[in-house]
Amino acid sequence: MRMRKKPNLIPRVERCAGLLEREPERLRGRWLQEFPGFSQLHLELGCGKGRFTVGMAEANPGVLFAAVERVLDAMVVAMERAKEAELGNVRFLDFDAAGCENIFAPGEVDRIYINFPDPWRKSRQFKRRLTAPSFLKIYETILKPEGEVWFKTDNRPLFDWSLEQFTAQGWELSEVTNDLHAGDETGCMTDYEAKFREQGVPINRLVARKRR
Ligand SMILES: C[S@@+](CC[C@H](N)C(=O)[O-])C[C@H]1O[C@@H](n2cnc3c(N)ncnc32)[C@H](O)[C@@H]1O
Repeated sequence: MRMRKKPNLIPRVERCAGLLEREPERLRGRWLQEFPGFSQLHLELGCGKGRFTVGMAEANPGVLFAAVERVLDAMVVAMERAKEAELGNVRFLDFDAAGCENIFAPGEVDRIYINFPDPWRKSRQFKRRLTAPSFLKIYETILKPEGEVWFKTDNRPLFDWSLEQFTAQGWELSEVTNDLHAGDETGCMTDYEAKFREQGVPINRLVARKRR
């Protein structure tokens, strides 16, 4: 995501500092102990401006959400939205998803959301896709045995490629659709998704669970 540098970025982040996890490594293996009262830990990779993060956290107060985003200019908007909504069940992590194993212990995460990730269109860039084989290995490690990856994208070639990667690594797929918004029910939308819906762009979605 290319974004203009936000003015006053640092003061804006500081105003939401209570939601920011500055040293998330210290929580590895202890997330639900450090934040008691939550039954599950859900992780969102590339939360962007946080429409989905805030919507899901509001709808699921018993779940602790860890929202990961490597572009602070986008994440600050998500943090401001969460602060405005007075959410107590979201923590924001300013880091690259490739480092997830340093932040979450094996089997610690109940669910991972990947929404409209960067498509990385050139074949030499495929390894950077959040559904590339190396990332799926990380997800398999940090997810509970019954844990799931929920994946949405407007990009059909990326979706089809991702479906192949999940299948090749022995994940079981369900709820596979190439037109999520065919009915009236949209579920919780992301910022990108809301824009695509307005434009009539079909949305692909799948749920993946690792076969053990
Ligand atoms: C196309 S935007 C979608 C944002 C949001 N999920 C949505 O649907 O509105 C992709 C986001 O993922 C973030 N991102 C991409 N790769 C990432 C990575 N390896 N680690 C953390 N964030 C990443 C980008 O910075 C960007 O904000």
